[in-house]
Amino acid sequence: MIKRPKGTFDIYGMDAKLWKQMEETIHHVCYSFGAEEIRTPIFEFTDLFVRGVGDTTDIVQKEMYTFSDRADRSFTLRPELTASVMRAYDENGLHNLHKPQKLYYIGPIFRAETPQKGRQRQFTQMGIEYLGVDSPEADGEVISIAYMLLKKIGIEGATIRINSIGSPASRKEFYTHIQEHVEKTEGFCKFCKERAYTNPLRVIDCKNEECQSLLIGTKNMLDFLNKEDTIHFEEVKKYLDRMHIPYIVDPKIVRGLDYYVKTVFEIHVDSIGAQSALGGGGRYDGLLKSIGSSKDTPGVGFALGLERFVLALQAQGKWVDEKEENSLFVAFIGEKAKEKAEEIVFALRQADIPAEIDLLNRNLRGQMKYADKLGMTYSMVLGEDEIEKEKAIIKHMQTGEEKEIAFSNIHQFMEGK
Ligand code: HAM
Repeated sequence: MIKRPKGTFDIYGMDAKLWKQMEETIHHVCYSFGAEEIRTPIFEFTDLFVRGVGDTTDIVQKEMYTFSDRADRSFTLRPELTASVMRAYDENGLHNLHKPQKLYYIGPIFRAETPQKGRQRQFTQMGIEYLGVDSPEADGEVISIAYMLLKKIGIEGATIRINSIGSPASRKEFYTHIQEHVEKTEGFCKFCKERAYTNPLRVIDCKNEECQSLLIGTKNMLDFLNKEDTIHFEEVKKYLDRMHIPYIVDPKIVRGLDYYVKTVFEIHVDSIGAQSALGGGGRYDGLLKSIGSSKDTPGVGFALGLERFVLALQAQGKWVDEKEENSLFVAFIGEKAKEKAEEIVFALRQADIPAEIDLLNRNLRGQMKYADKLGMTYSMVLGEDEIEKEKAIIKHMQTGEEKEIAFSNIHQFMEGK
């Protein structure tokens, strides 16, 4: 039997309900911030990610699902969505509409990573991008969306960690500092020795413990911010303080994608294991130019990994908040009663009232067992007598309480009127 690919999951049953509930919350929160949904293709030209995310990043170097089509064009299953949203913004002339454009998404992402708890090859991100705005208040508002989602979805114990990696102008001196430090210090891994020149920020988040220990006591990016970047970061923090959003300034947060400037942030929760990042984001003012546009469009946003949200909810013992809706199972004895039962069930469904009927030719006992398994609120049995009188007994499946109802009053009864 063919099995699903490693690092992918089937979502069904209670899990599917949890996902639906989470997605509904996301739509509501994004709507309340005035954001509109955007859906972009699952695959894009490979160059979009190479140039957008950065050719020295792990994503581009090791994790992309890239393939050629029959005309030998190189495509990639999207390993993130920010570059796609920027492309769509430019391609569809969304810059001609009001600013900022607030665009959010929920959808699958693909990265060829080694699977482990919280790390998959296909996973789901929700994200939001504010395009055409460079104010620190926009960064603050974006972080406040992440905060509100954590609250409304019900995640406890998460921490928001923020940092500023400055604009390219601020970064020059910091890069020199890192290069000098790596050069004069024994023990950095061979990747860091290389990264110090190709992408010095990657030295800061090297996974090697030895490299991390060699960085202790060195200056960090915040020490090198120019005046403009410092003011920007201060204003972001002031915004969060005004909204009473708790955060920690963490100079170790540099993010793994190359497009970031100034504000960056991540959200972590310890309860889900080693892959503790629930989400991350930041400002990316140069992204549009790097993917080939002549325009310059500032932007800020984040993405959350929804599988990790599910893990966090499960670790907390949180489950679906099922709103009990009254449902009716209509059982029948005989052909005539079956036709009437079908009619009643269809009419109830048309009025958005959950109703069920047997489709497997079960006998009455079998039908009632089935109703029990489905957890229906009420059941009703139709036989010749009921058809003739046009009324039947409706029974509450849990309490056993019974009531005779005319067929014409079933809707009213089910709606609790
Ligand atoms: P990212 O940090 O690469 O950022 O991914 C965001 C989140 O996706 C992570 O924090 C994590 O929760 C989840 N995630 C990443 N990789 C995996 C995986 N292999 N399995 C399960 N979950 C995973 C971005 O993608 C940026 N585009 C975020 C952004 C939006 N920045 C600005 N706007």
